[in-house]
Amino acid sequence: MKAWQTRFLYFLVLNAAVQYVTSLEEELADSIFGNFLDPIKDVLDPKDGANQTVAKFSLRKPSDPDNDLCYIVPGKPDSLAACTFNSTSKTFLVIHGWTLSGMFESWVAKLVSALYEREQTANVIVVDWLNSAQNHYVVAAQNTKVVGQEIARFIDWIEETT
Ligand SMILES: *[C@@H]1O[C@H](CO)[C@@H](O)[C@H](O)[C@H]1NC(C)=O
Ligand SMILES: *[C@@H]1O[C@H](CO)[C@@H](O)[C@H](O)[C@H]1NC(C)=O
Repeated sequence: MKAWQTRFLYFLVLNAAVQYVTSLEEELADSIFGNFLDPIKDVLDPKDGANQTVAKFSLRKPSDPDNDLCYIVPGKPDSLAACTFNSTSKTFLVIHGWTLSGMFESWVAKLVSALYEREQTANVIVVDWLNSAQNHYVVAAQNTKVVGQEIARFIDWIEETT
């Protein structure tokens, strides 16, 4: 074989090898990260019809901020009245972060009480996304995007409705 033919053949073999390795890597990445990212995909693209949300919004009462929960459901104006949401008062949203325990940390109730001490007629709403926050940190961090979008929609809805 002439030198250029050898070089061309070498190039072809090398190219094929690189492509083979690349496809193996992609397959491997799919099988590792594909499974790993599946729960996120489910959260980001909820199936049609299954309009469950990641975040829940509980309006707390000054008397018993830990136990007296009333859920405000976006799209359901009745829930505002049922929770005695005061549309002429200030509204505070308390939002937790990543959690190992899956429970509210003690600062949440303390902050709710402190806010009610300052603003007796306020609406102090705790955003509960514990189910999605109790996860591997990377997954929980990814979930914050959806939580943020739901909170934005919640605020828009409150503004339009009250
Ligand atoms: C899902 O959304 C539809 C339309 O927005 C609504 O009519 C239905 O009540 C919702 N389902 C639940 C379980 O909230
Ligand atoms: C709602 O809030 C306003 C202003 O903060 C207050 O004057 C009023 O008493 C509150 N209403 C109720 C039912 O608490």
